[in-house]
Amino acid sequence: MTRTVYVNGEYLPENEATVSIFDRGFLMADGVYEVTTVLDGKLIDFDGHAVRLQRSLDELEMQAACSKDELLEIHRQLVERNGIVEGLVYLQVTRGSDGDRDFVFPSADTKPTIVLFTQNKPGLADNPAAKKGAKIISIEDIRWGRRDIKTVQLLYPSMGKMMAKKAGCDDAWLVEDGHVTEGTSNNAYLVKDGKIVTRPLSTDILHGITRKAVLRMAAEAQMEIEERLFTIDEAKEADEAFVTSASAFVMPVVEIDGVALGNGTPGPIATRLREIYLDESRKAAI
Ligand code: PDD
Repeated sequence: MTRTVYVNGEYLPENEATVSIFDRGFLMADGVYEVTTVLDGKLIDFDGHAVRLQRSLDELEMQAACSKDELLEIHRQLVERNGIVEGLVYLQVTRGSDGDRDFVFPSADTKPTIVLFTQNKPGLADNPAAKKGAKIISIEDIRWGRRDIKTVQLLYPSMGKMMAKKAGCDDAWLVEDGHVTEGTSNNAYLVKDGKIVTRPLSTDILHGITRKAVLRMAAEAQMEIEERLFTIDEAKEADEAFVTSASAFVMPVVEIDGVALGNGTPGPIATRLREIYLDESRKAAI
């Protein structure tokens, strides 16, 4: 089926949608993005994603392409026009193009480029991978120093994912100065003696929208949380581990660098948090 996508003010069939070859997103990875999940045809935590998008734009002194209300309308239109019940809405804003390549930013009146498209993912919430749990390898984190900005510079995370696949695993955790920063496309957690441990927010990691929601829900469920640095060795000795992201929700981790965690199956805290998160998010979806 041909998707309807959104480009710079127009809804178009995907094969008719185009962006300039001079676009700064294409030439310089000068763009930011968001991925919002759709469950039951509704958007999960739209507000969180819209707020983070604005923050990414502000940090890069990039113009917003449209208002938050317009963004919501575009998301809803795309979900409806493409008949998405479970899936994702991808949004990208770039600094646009003034028709040439230059390291200097184009003039302030250059229009940003905005693109949105849907990804249909039936069975996203009932993903069988969550019952098996994910196997992780650790790799050095060699990304740039502003990982709190959700830019489209995703080459190294993509390479990390491929390194994991080649090793027969599902994903990689990134390690800097001996401490885990985050996963290639998710935030990372371990659980020891009932306590959830995760890295505090800084410019070193993306401020996950799912992270924020899951930590709030964990606190409401009287779970203990400690925001501090942790090493891969500590994670290998944990009772359980998990990752969070908009598209994976709460995904248990069962193996790190070949070492099984606990009994090698998804742990009770990760499993419970996944249930709570899906439940609460569906109720709050718009
Ligand atoms: N990735 N850390 C990184 C590096 C990420 O790329 C992501 C999200 C997260 C989790 O953030 P959130 O909970 O807001 O999805 C953490 C998205 C899903 C992606 O690139 O597809």
